[in-house]
Amino acid sequence: MLIRHPVPSDEAAWRGLWAGYVAFYEADVAEAVTARTWERLIHKQDGLVCRVAEADGTICGFSLSVLHAGTWSLTPVCYLEDLFVAPEQRGRGIGEALIRDLVAMAKSQGWSGLYWHTRASNANARRVYDRFTVADDFVRYRLLF
Ligand SMILES: CC(C)(COP(=O)(O)OP(=O)(O)OC[C@H]1O[C@@H](n2cnc3c(N)ncnc32)[C@H](O)[C@@H]1OP(=O)(O)O)[C@@H](O)C(=O)NCCC(=O)NCCS
Repeated sequence: MLIRHPVPSDEAAWRGLWAGYVAFYEADVAEAVTARTWERLIHKQDGLVCRVAEADGTICGFSLSVLHAGTWSLTPVCYLEDLFVAPEQRGRGIGEALIRDLVAMAKSQGWSGLYWHTRASNANARRVYDRFTVADDFVRYRLLF
């Protein structure tokens, strides 16, 4: 398995995975947003960091992160916003490998931290996340506009 930055020819495969991720959250993302997200991640704009996992020549998972400045450090912090592995490829360590890839990038590029959150009830994801660290006791407040 190879983890790498996406290239333009990955668009159809990435869109298929993205659709699965959006469906997992029972969400609806407008086509204009998906198109713009692809443009930004392929060109590494606005701090977006996308990594795709390729197995047997097929893209089967991705991580999508946002690199941003922080007030508690001099170097960027990485927020892992989206993580997805194709259902038929789960349980083979691809999700863990995608996070390990980000940890390696953080160390090699001097990011000060890597963080993410998930639903408390997302047992499959938490089994992977618990291998990295212990969840803290912060809760999320959110306003949507
Ligand atoms: C969370 C996710 C990325 C994990 O990917 P993955 O490649 O299966 O991760 P790993 O193989 O490293 O570990 C999977 C864990 O889930 C468990 N698991 C439970 N049901 C599973 C299933 N149907 N298929 C595969 N693994 C399953 C595995 O047993 C493993 O835990 P264990 O090793 O402690 O037994 C993937 O399940 C996924 O995309 N889920 C839907 C989207 C999601 O929840 N994303 C994260 C939101 S923040």
